[in-house]
Amino acid sequence: MKILITGGAGFIGANFCEYELKHHPEDTYLCLDALTYAGNLASLEHVLHQPNFTFIRGDIADRDFVNALFEREKPDIVVNFAAESHVDRSVTDPEVFLRTNIMGTQALMDACRKHGVGRFHQVSTDEVYGDLPLDRPDLFFTEETPLHASSPYSASKASADLLVQAYARTFKLPVSITRCSNNYGPYHFPEKLIPLMITRALADQGLPVYGKGENVRDWLYVEDHCSAIDLVIRKGRAGEVYNVGGHNERRNIDVVKAILRELGKPETLITYVTDRPGHDMRYAIDPSKIHRELGWLPTTTFDEGIRRTVQWYLDNRGWWEAILAGEYQNYYAAMYGQR
Ligand code: NAD
Ligand code: DAU
Repeated sequence: MKILITGGAGFIGANFCEYELKHHPEDTYLCLDALTYAGNLASLEHVLHQPNFTFIRGDIADRDFVNALFEREKPDIVVNFAAESHVDRSVTDPEVFLRTNIMGTQALMDACRKHGVGRFHQVSTDEVYGDLPLDRPDLFFTEETPLHASSPYSASKASADLLVQAYARTFKLPVSITRCSNNYGPYHFPEKLIPLMITRALADQGLPVYGKGENVRDWLYVEDHCSAIDLVIRKGRAGEVYNVGGHNERRNIDVVKAILRELGKPETLITYVTDRPGHDMRYAIDPSKIHRELGWLPTTTFDEGIRRTVQWYLDNRGWWEAILAGEYQNYYAAMYGQR
């Protein structure tokens, strides 16, 4: 089988490429990524030179390019990770979120229709459901929870989900959608909470916690997200949505304190800053459908995952220091410039 993975040079996409090559070496993989600020070929170091892996630089919203690629490569499955993914950036500059997350998804699905792709999988997010109140711990997002987005980012992801479901019904495109909670682990770009706090704490810099730090996120180790997507694209029913999460709810302030404990750094580094506009209060996934239908369960506890993640950032200083120095942007030219 030939699997096209878009956004594979980003955080989860890179982990997914590694996961797939390890667990399904018999398949062939094409990784399509525009290498925006969030894309980094260094995150693909373990797969880039494998004979069954090809990296292609390109934009999912460039319809002509996407069409030509599908014509030439004829993928069997498309897994769409490519997106603008950072909520704070969507508050300052929403437009690119609409272009990539909505128009890009549509361009991919049109190519899937035209070239008879067997499965289009959309990597979506629990943020499409909006948020839950802190005083109702009995409430969880199920696949039937109405879409109710809060930020331009989540609105763009919800729009894409609606389009995916419309293409399934109107054009009979064989699709699937996973909606996952917050991921963490290796190759996480240091603008997101966990890697930002680790890298800043290592430099003894202040740790900016929004508001009172009481917002709750439902954390899942990235490898567990990869195993869920892998099951859905290979065994999941077409036309279905599957929620993915591991019942790992934590307040932001407790996550930050856990990181400080792991690093042996003082809590005096914590600095409370102005809240994010429209900040979602609580996310909590009910993953019973994917467990019941596909037998999926997460394997990494939060304590173990945070330990492994902190250790990864200690062992891979070169990866994130290059990002912070802006050097990673030269990586592509150095690697491919002469070809
Ligand atoms: P990321 O920002 O780390 O990576 C996104 C990747 O997409 C980058 O490599 C970037 O270069 C690429 N990209 C952006 N625009 C593109 C375009 N127009 N054409 C081709 N490539 C483009 O994001 P991530 O955290 O790895 O998230 C991946 C997907 O998973 C996203 O769709 C996101 O909505 C979803 N998701 C993320 C989380 C999370 O906690 N990070 C949780 C649930 C779902
Ligand atoms: O739930 C899934 C979503 O998780 C994904 O769809 C998004 O792509 C991903 O970025 C993530 O969104 P969040 O907004 O939850 O993640 P972020 O790491 O930006 O923030 C996590 C929490 O920490 C959130 O409540 C805001 C807070 N925060 C974040 C940053 C960057 C801070 O308090 N300080 C910070 O500096």
